[in-house]
Amino acid sequence: MDNRPILFLDSGIGGLPYFQHISSVNPHERFIYTADRNNFPYGSKDKETLVHLLEMLIHALVSIYDPKVIVLACNTASVTALDALRNRFPDIPFIGTVPAVKPAALKTRSGIIGVLGTQRTIEDPYIEALVKESGRSVEVKKIAAPLLVDFVEHQYASASTEERLHVVSKYIDELRAAGVDALVLGCTHFLFLLDEFRKAASPGIEIYDSIEGVSQRLGSVLNKNKLRTSVISDCDNILLVTGKDDAEPVWKQRAEMYNMELKVFGRILEDKGKS
Ligand code: DGL
Repeated sequence: MDNRPILFLDSGIGGLPYFQHISSVNPHERFIYTADRNNFPYGSKDKETLVHLLEMLIHALVSIYDPKVIVLACNTASVTALDALRNRFPDIPFIGTVPAVKPAALKTRSGIIGVLGTQRTIEDPYIEALVKESGRSVEVKKIAAPLLVDFVEHQYASASTEERLHVVSKYIDELRAAGVDALVLGCTHFLFLLDEFRKAASPGIEIYDSIEGVSQRLGSVLNKNKLRTSVISDCDNILLVTGKDDAEPVWKQRAEMYNMELKVFGRILEDKGKS
Protein backbone atom coordinates (compact mmCIF):
# COMPACT_ATOMS: atom_id res chain seq x y z
CA MET A 1 0.00 0.00 0.00
CA ASP A 2 1.28 3.44 -0.84
CA ASN A 3 -0.65 6.69 -0.37
CA ARG A 4 1.66 8.95 -2.35
CA PRO A 5 0.24 10.65 -5.48
CA ILE A 6 0.47 9.60 -9.12
CA LEU A 7 2.06 12.34 -11.22
CA PHE A 8 0.96 13.09 -14.78
CA LEU A 9 3.04 15.29 -17.07
CA ASP A 10 2.40 16.91 -20.44
CA SER A 11 3.38 20.19 -22.09
CA GLY A 12 -0.21 21.39 -21.70
CA ILE A 13 -3.71 19.94 -21.72
CA GLY A 14 -2.93 16.92 -23.93
CA GLY A 15 -2.81 14.42 -21.09
CA LEU A 16 -6.14 15.48 -19.58
CA PRO A 17 -8.23 12.88 -21.49
CA TYR A 18 -5.80 10.25 -20.14
CA PHE A 19 -6.12 11.67 -16.63
CA GLN A 20 -9.91 11.73 -16.92
CA HIS A 21 -10.13 8.08 -17.90
CA ILE A 22 -7.49 6.84 -15.48
CA SER A 23 -8.76 8.79 -12.47
CA SER A 24 -12.26 7.41 -13.08
CA VAL A 25 -10.87 3.87 -13.12
CA ASN A 26 -8.80 4.56 -9.97
CA PRO A 27 -11.08 6.90 -7.96
CA HIS A 28 -9.22 6.56 -4.65
CA GLU A 29 -5.79 7.43 -6.01
CA ARG A 30 -4.50 10.99 -5.69
CA PHE A 31 -3.35 12.64 -8.92
CA ILE A 32 -1.19 15.65 -9.69
CA TYR A 33 -1.56 16.66 -13.32
CA THR A 34 1.31 18.89 -14.44
CA ALA A 35 0.86 21.09 -17.49
CA ASP A 36 4.28 22.46 -18.46
CA ARG A 37 2.83 25.63 -20.01
CA ASN A 38 6.21 27.30 -19.52
CA ASN A 39 7.83 25.03 -22.12
CA PHE A 40 4.88 24.45 -24.46
CA PRO A 41 5.21 23.16 -27.16
CA TYR A 42 7.54 20.19 -26.69
CA GLY A 43 7.23 19.05 -30.29
CA SER A 44 9.42 21.76 -31.81
CA LYS A 45 12.34 21.16 -29.42
CA ASP A 46 15.37 19.04 -30.20
CA LYS A 47 16.02 15.84 -28.30
CA GLU A 48 18.83 17.18 -26.10
CA THR A 49 16.89 20.27 -25.03
CA LEU A 50 13.75 18.30 -24.25
CA VAL A 51 15.55 15.61 -22.24
CA HIS A 52 17.31 18.31 -20.23
CA LEU A 53 14.20 20.31 -19.43
CA LEU A 54 12.23 17.20 -18.49
CA GLU A 55 15.01 16.04 -16.17
CA MET A 56 15.06 19.45 -14.45
CA LEU A 57 11.28 19.67 -14.13
CA ILE A 58 10.85 16.12 -12.86
CA HIS A 59 13.66 16.60 -10.36
CA ALA A 60 11.81 19.63 -8.94
CA LEU A 61 8.42 17.87 -8.97
CA VAL A 62 9.83 14.82 -7.21
CA SER A 63 11.43 16.97 -4.50
CA ILE A 64 8.05 18.52 -3.67
CA TYR A 65 5.50 15.75 -4.34
CA ASP A 66 7.41 12.46 -4.03
CA PRO A 67 5.17 10.64 -6.55
CA LYS A 68 4.90 6.84 -6.50
CA VAL A 69 4.51 6.63 -10.30
CA ILE A 70 5.03 9.14 -13.12
CA VAL A 71 2.83 8.96 -16.23
CA LEU A 72 4.33 10.81 -19.19
CA ALA A 73 0.99 11.70 -20.72
CA CYS A 74 2.77 12.98 -23.79
CA ASN A 75 3.99 11.03 -26.81
CA THR A 76 6.75 13.52 -27.55
CA ALA A 77 8.21 13.29 -24.05
CA SER A 78 7.85 9.50 -24.03
CA VAL A 79 9.42 8.90 -27.42
CA THR A 80 12.25 11.33 -26.66
CA ALA A 81 13.09 10.95 -23.01
CA LEU A 82 11.60 7.83 -21.42
CA ASP A 83 14.88 5.89 -21.32
CA ALA A 84 16.87 8.89 -20.05
CA LEU A 85 14.31 9.56 -17.30
CA ARG A 86 14.22 5.93 -16.18
CA ASN A 87 18.03 6.03 -15.88
CA ARG A 88 18.02 9.33 -14.04
CA PHE A 89 15.23 8.38 -11.57
CA PRO A 90 15.65 4.62 -11.17
CA ASP A 91 13.44 4.38 -8.06
CA ILE A 92 10.32 5.76 -9.76
CA PRO A 93 8.29 3.67 -12.20
CA PHE A 94 7.60 5.66 -15.39
CA ILE A 95 4.67 4.91 -17.69
CA GLY A 96 5.18 6.20 -21.21
CA THR A 97 2.55 7.04 -23.80
CA VAL A 98 3.57 5.03 -26.80
CA PRO A 99 1.79 5.72 -30.11
CA ALA A 100 -0.49 2.75 -30.91
CA VAL A 101 1.56 1.87 -33.99
CA LYS A 102 1.68 -1.87 -33.30
CA PRO A 103 -2.09 -2.52 -33.19
CA ALA A 104 -2.56 -0.33 -36.27
CA ALA A 105 0.19 -2.22 -38.15
CA LEU A 106 -1.41 -5.53 -37.20
CA LYS A 107 -4.89 -4.51 -38.35
CA THR A 108 -4.30 -2.56 -41.57
CA ARG A 109 -5.62 -4.23 -44.72
CA SER A 110 -4.20 -1.68 -47.16
CA GLY A 111 -0.73 -2.08 -45.63
CA ILE A 112 -0.43 1.69 -45.17
CA ILE A 113 -0.83 3.27 -41.74
CA GLY A 114 -0.80 6.95 -40.80
CA VAL A 115 0.85 8.51 -37.77
CA LEU A 116 -0.09 12.04 -36.79
CA GLY A 117 2.17 13.61 -34.18
CA THR A 118 4.55 16.41 -33.37
CA GLN A 119 7.67 17.12 -35.42
CA ARG A 120 9.86 15.56 -32.68
CA THR A 121 7.76 12.37 -32.51
CA ILE A 122 7.53 11.97 -36.26
CA GLU A 123 11.27 12.32 -36.82
CA ASP A 124 12.23 9.91 -34.03
CA PRO A 125 13.36 6.42 -35.17
CA TYR A 126 11.11 5.00 -32.42
CA ILE A 127 8.13 4.92 -34.82
CA GLU A 128 9.98 2.60 -37.23
CA ALA A 129 11.13 0.48 -34.28
CA LEU A 130 7.47 -0.01 -33.25
CA VAL A 131 6.53 -1.05 -36.78
CA LYS A 132 9.38 -3.56 -36.75
CA GLU A 133 8.19 -4.94 -33.41
CA SER A 134 4.76 -5.59 -34.95
CA GLY A 135 6.40 -8.12 -37.24
CA ARG A 136 4.54 -6.75 -40.28
CA SER A 137 6.08 -4.80 -43.08
CA VAL A 138 3.78 -1.82 -43.52
CA GLU A 139 4.26 1.57 -45.08
CA VAL A 140 3.99 4.52 -42.66
CA LYS A 141 2.67 7.88 -43.75
CA LYS A 142 3.89 10.28 -41.05
CA ILE A 143 2.52 13.79 -40.70
CA ALA A 144 3.74 16.42 -38.24
CA ALA A 145 0.79 18.54 -37.12
CA PRO A 146 2.06 21.34 -34.85
CA LEU A 147 -0.85 23.59 -35.84
CA LEU A 148 -3.30 20.99 -34.59
CA VAL A 149 -1.48 20.84 -31.23
CA ASP A 150 -1.71 24.60 -31.01
CA PHE A 151 -5.38 24.55 -31.99
CA VAL A 152 -6.21 22.13 -29.17
CA GLU A 153 -4.16 23.99 -26.58
CA HIS A 154 -5.38 27.48 -27.43
CA GLN A 155 -8.53 27.42 -29.55
CA TYR A 156 -10.35 24.14 -28.95
CA ALA A 157 -12.32 25.37 -25.95
CA SER A 158 -13.94 28.21 -27.87
CA ALA A 159 -14.18 26.47 -31.28
CA SER A 160 -17.48 25.26 -32.74
CA THR A 161 -18.07 21.61 -33.73
CA GLU A 162 -17.79 22.67 -37.39
CA GLU A 163 -14.44 24.35 -36.79
CA ARG A 164 -13.13 21.28 -34.97
CA LEU A 165 -14.26 19.03 -37.81
CA HIS A 166 -12.76 21.37 -40.35
CA VAL A 167 -9.27 21.30 -38.78
CA VAL A 168 -9.07 17.51 -38.71
CA SER A 169 -10.57 17.01 -42.18
CA LYS A 170 -7.55 18.28 -44.08
CA TYR A 171 -5.32 15.67 -42.43
CA ILE A 172 -7.83 12.91 -43.08
CA ASP A 173 -8.11 13.93 -46.74
CA GLU A 174 -4.33 13.74 -47.15
CA LEU A 175 -4.15 10.35 -45.42
CA ARG A 176 -7.07 8.93 -47.40
CA ALA A 177 -5.42 10.03 -50.65
CA ALA A 178 -2.28 8.16 -49.57
CA GLY A 179 -4.24 4.91 -49.09
CA VAL A 180 -4.11 4.90 -45.28
CA ASP A 181 -6.77 2.76 -43.56
CA ALA A 182 -5.43 2.92 -39.98
CA LEU A 183 -4.56 6.23 -38.32
CA VAL A 184 -2.58 6.46 -35.09
CA LEU A 185 -3.19 9.57 -33.00
CA GLY A 186 0.44 9.98 -31.94
CA CYS A 187 0.00 13.07 -29.80
CA THR A 188 -2.09 13.16 -26.65
CA HIS A 189 -3.56 16.57 -27.56
CA PHE A 190 -5.41 14.96 -30.48
CA LEU A 191 -7.59 12.91 -28.13
CA PHE A 192 -9.66 16.05 -27.58
CA LEU A 193 -10.63 15.71 -31.25
CA LEU A 194 -11.34 11.97 -31.19
CA ASP A 195 -15.01 12.32 -32.14
CA GLU A 196 -14.16 14.64 -35.01
CA PHE A 197 -11.40 12.31 -36.22
CA ARG A 198 -13.77 9.34 -36.13
CA LYS A 199 -16.44 11.27 -38.00
CA ALA A 200 -14.09 12.54 -40.72
CA ALA A 201 -12.36 9.17 -41.09
CA SER A 202 -15.51 7.09 -41.47
CA PRO A 203 -15.87 5.00 -43.50
CA GLY A 204 -12.54 3.47 -44.39
CA ILE A 205 -10.03 4.72 -41.83
CA GLU A 206 -9.87 3.32 -38.31
CA ILE A 207 -8.53 5.54 -35.51
CA TYR A 208 -6.08 4.17 -32.90
CA ASP A 209 -5.14 5.78 -29.59
CA SER A 210 -3.31 4.69 -26.47
CA ILE A 211 -5.60 5.65 -23.56
CA GLU A 212 -6.62 2.08 -22.73
CA GLY A 213 -3.04 0.83 -23.12
CA VAL A 214 -1.67 3.46 -20.71
CA SER A 215 -4.47 2.80 -18.24
CA GLN A 216 -3.83 -0.95 -18.21
CA ARG A 217 -0.08 -0.46 -17.89
CA LEU A 218 -0.58 1.84 -14.89
CA GLY A 219 -2.93 -0.70 -13.30
CA SER A 220 -0.40 -3.49 -13.64
CA VAL A 221 2.47 -1.32 -12.30
CA LEU A 222 0.36 -0.37 -9.25
CA ASN A 223 -0.55 -4.01 -8.63
CA LYS A 224 2.87 -5.51 -9.30
CA ASN A 225 4.69 -3.04 -7.05
CA LYS A 226 1.94 -3.04 -4.41
CA LEU A 227 1.52 0.70 -4.86
CA ARG A 228 -2.24 1.04 -4.58
CA THR A 229 -3.49 3.47 -1.97
CA SER A 230 -5.03 2.29 1.27
CA VAL A 231 -7.11 5.46 1.66
CA ILE A 232 -10.68 4.76 0.57
CA SER A 233 -12.09 8.20 -0.13
CA ASP A 234 -12.52 10.48 -3.10
CA CYS A 235 -9.41 12.50 -3.64
CA ASP A 236 -8.45 16.11 -4.07
CA ASN A 237 -6.52 16.15 -7.31
CA ILE A 238 -4.26 19.00 -8.34
CA LEU A 239 -3.85 20.76 -11.68
CA LEU A 240 -0.35 22.17 -11.55
CA VAL A 241 0.82 24.68 -14.16
CA THR A 242 4.50 25.55 -14.52
CA GLY A 243 5.84 29.11 -14.47
CA LYS A 244 5.40 31.85 -11.91
CA ASP A 245 2.73 33.95 -13.59
CA ASP A 246 -0.89 33.76 -12.53
CA ALA A 247 -2.72 30.95 -14.27
CA GLU A 248 -4.71 32.37 -17.18
CA PRO A 249 -8.54 32.21 -16.69
CA VAL A 250 -8.78 29.23 -19.04
CA TRP A 251 -6.76 27.15 -16.55
CA LYS A 252 -9.25 28.02 -13.82
CA GLN A 253 -12.06 26.77 -16.07
CA ARG A 254 -10.16 23.56 -16.77
CA ALA A 255 -9.48 22.96 -13.09
CA GLU A 256 -13.20 23.36 -12.37
CA MET A 257 -14.15 21.15 -15.30
CA TYR A 258 -11.93 18.31 -14.07
CA ASN A 259 -12.66 18.98 -10.40
CA MET A 260 -9.07 19.78 -9.51
CA GLU A 261 -7.36 22.38 -7.36
CA LEU A 262 -5.29 24.78 -9.49
CA LYS A 263 -1.71 25.56 -8.41
CA VAL A 264 1.23 27.45 -9.93
CA PHE A 265 4.42 25.44 -9.55
CA GLY A 266 6.84 28.41 -9.71
CA ARG A 267 5.14 29.91 -6.65
CA ILE A 268 5.33 26.64 -4.75
CA LEU A 269 9.07 26.44 -5.46
CA GLU A 270 9.55 30.06 -4.34
CA ASP A 271 7.71 29.40 -1.08
CA LYS A 272 9.79 26.31 -0.48
CA GLY A 273 12.96 28.37 -1.04
CA LYS A 274 11.82 30.87 1.62
CA SER A 275 11.00 28.28 4.25
N1 DGL B 1 0.90 16.39 -26.04
C1 DGL B 1 2.18 16.18 -26.57
C2 DGL B 1 2.37 14.85 -27.29
O1 DGL B 1 1.67 13.91 -26.99
C3 DGL B 1 3.01 17.26 -27.18
C4 DGL B 1 2.50 18.52 -27.71
C5 DGL B 1 3.60 19.56 -27.79
O2 DGL B 1 3.91 20.13 -26.73
O3 DGL B 1 4.16 19.78 -28.87
O4 DGL B 1 3.20 14.70 -28.11
